[in-house]
Amino acid sequence: MKQQLEKIRMEAMTAIETVKGSAELDALRVRFLGKKGELTAVLKQMGKLSAEERPIMGQIANSVREAIEGKLEQRKTELKAKALEEKLVSETVDVTIPGVPVVLGHKHPMSKVLDEAKEIFVGMGFEVVEGPEVELESYNFTKLNTPYGHPARDRSDTFYITEDDKVLLRTQTSPMQVRVMEQKKPPIRIVAPGRVYRKDEVDATHSPMFHQLEGLVVDEGITMTDLKGTLEHLVKQLYGEDSVVRFRPHHFPFTEPSCEVDVQCFECHGAGCRTCKGEGWIELLGAGMVHPAVLQGCGIDPTQYSGFAFGIGVERMAMRRYAISDLRLIFENDVRFLSQF
Ligand code: DAH
Repeated sequence: MKQQLEKIRMEAMTAIETVKGSAELDALRVRFLGKKGELTAVLKQMGKLSAEERPIMGQIANSVREAIEGKLEQRKTELKAKALEEKLVSETVDVTIPGVPVVLGHKHPMSKVLDEAKEIFVGMGFEVVEGPEVELESYNFTKLNTPYGHPARDRSDTFYITEDDKVLLRTQTSPMQVRVMEQKKPPIRIVAPGRVYRKDEVDATHSPMFHQLEGLVVDEGITMTDLKGTLEHLVKQLYGEDSVVRFRPHHFPFTEPSCEVDVQCFECHGAGCRTCKGEGWIELLGAGMVHPAVLQGCGIDPTQYSGFAFGIGVERMAMRRYAISDLRLIFENDVRFLSQF
């Protein structure tokens, strides 16, 4: 029996010493020390020994067990260290390799000018509101004093959604005037940015989808002077203190009187050049005093209150602000173009 035990010890030691992985090591533990292991098998024969032999053999068996356990533990630690070492080597980071720069995104030029304009209006006490792009005909036209048969209603200009022409893609942000006046009592001071849609072919200055910024002020005693002061302030903030503004009579169904506002060309200062197509002036927006019929229709008494409104083309504002010559650049989202802003 003593020889058997010594044999187990010898075999276990060499086997454990040469083991390569922790799974293999575990298999060896089972093979030698497990319930059905080699050492256990020998110990089961202890009963056959004489009373004198038994403690001696017991001692030897214990020392063999301890030796095997010790060896297993030692090998386990070695394997762990080896695995860690290998992992560290394989995952080595070369801190001397130059880094890859992270490309940061930034705001689209349209968002930039819109944010800028909103900030200017908020500074004057305006509130920013938004409304639906899919709009009712009544808000887009009728309540804005635009009668049936008016050319702006033409199917060749407007995207109608329903067969009966009652629902459409708004052609302007002006319906927001009505939506606000129906819900709020004066004093009202809002701007409403958003997308608008018209059946226009795409070219350097047209797109079937573009953006407007609508403005509306209604209170007692509002006059054309307030309109002029507000819009002049906007233009000077956007394009510089020295910019010159011109108010030109125009017609819109929902304002009376109506005007268009031009800013003197910042390239040629009025002399006429390519940017302003020889005009010396660049058209910026439409505006006017809210038509009494529109006020009345929204439940606001036109004998007590008056107001002004305006609608600015946001693309135009951006094109002028950043000297962009083609509207398509704004929508194509070519990063080489966008990264310049
Ligand atoms: N909605 C007009 C357009 O799209 C622009 C406009 C003109 C808006 C006069 C107004 C206004 O609020 O008073 O051409």
